[in-house]
Amino acid sequence: MIAPSLVWPAGLNVQDFLADTWQQRPMRMPAALAGFRSPLSPDELAGLACDEGVESRLVKHKDGTWSLRNGPFEESDLEQLETSDWSLLVQDVEKHLPELAQILDPFRFLPSWRMDDLMISCAAPGGSVGPHVDAYDVFLIQAQGRRRWQWDSKTRAHHNRENSELSLVETFTPDEEWITGPGDVLYLPPGVAHFGVAMPDDELCMTYSIGFRAPSCSEILQDLALRMAESPESGFANPRYADPGISLDEAADGVISPAALARVRNMLGQALSMDDHALAGWFGSMVTEPKAWLQPLPNEESITPSQLIALLEKGLVPRRHGMALWAHWQGDDQVVLFIDGRSIHLDPELAPLARDLCSQRELNLDGLTLRNSPKAAKLVTDLVNAGELELDNE
Ligand code: SIN
Ligand code: CO
Repeated sequence: MIAPSLVWPAGLNVQDFLADTWQQRPMRMPAALAGFRSPLSPDELAGLACDEGVESRLVKHKDGTWSLRNGPFEESDLEQLETSDWSLLVQDVEKHLPELAQILDPFRFLPSWRMDDLMISCAAPGGSVGPHVDAYDVFLIQAQGRRRWQWDSKTRAHHNRENSELSLVETFTPDEEWITGPGDVLYLPPGVAHFGVAMPDDELCMTYSIGFRAPSCSEILQDLALRMAESPESGFANPRYADPGISLDEAADGVISPAALARVRNMLGQALSMDDHALAGWFGSMVTEPKAWLQPLPNEESITPSQLIALLEKGLVPRRHGMALWAHWQGDDQVVLFIDGRSIHLDPELAPLARDLCSQRELNLDGLTLRNSPKAAKLVTDLVNAGELELDNE
């Protein structure tokens, strides 16, 4: 399967989209992926939903009430489904089936660390997850059958997990409607209430959602606070509140004085004033942190750089493990590679390799290149031993 490239609506291009639409307003993209059809059958999706370690949901509705069951499912649960009003959804499909990762490629004009996952749904006529709001941007690709989308383009709602696990909106007042068929793409920014219902068709309705991730301020601060608590190893200072020169007035009647507030503000400002190297070194780890059940396992038998070179000379090719998350940061004379929440500080001569690792699923590396660069050979060997790169036949 080769993912087709994205065709923008007439008169628009990627720069227009980023300037006027991304994070701002929904966009209909008719036939943007013309020719794209689900490479996965409903049965294959159902099989995935029965696997341990795969996040899946079954949403049904009856008489205006929505019910949710989380997987993994028994085969018998999915064989006995009715002919209408259910939807089966599976998260992180590109991590479980790495051959589907190329479906994300048409959207790589956005940073890869912002991309969260490929979710695939399969629904019988009437099947839906209800009118709801998502906290993240999403491209909804129709991959089989048809789906009627309705959305409210006028109001921005907050994603409300407390409302229900489905984040249903209490009142839904759509002002837009579009029936999508295979190859159509709908872009929705966060906060747009939407409702997609599977239409009757010869085939079950399958929708592929490319979802993005954006950490909240509280998540960022929480993670940073944990990192500070690891000080001094983390390189972040973790000073305590201090009040040298405190005045007598500040002790009056349990008051919190303006001077005390100024000290706290100053302390927070100092804590956040780290240089780019420290900031990137922590942020890159945070945004590549995988879900606990979605990470490669280290190889049981490790190899040495010379064994790696010999294997490459026999024609084996290093490929990224489908679950590993990659990013890198480049300062003036510093390069940091992030994989699954860990950071590796690299010699600047390895900057091109870091870029390749973060942008290509398969590395174009031969034994000779590694013979000429012991640092590159060591890095690639470490990544193979950690399970983040796999050696496959071409
Ligand atoms: C779907 O049902 O495939 C899409 C779910 C959504 O609206 O986010
Ligand atoms: Co949604």
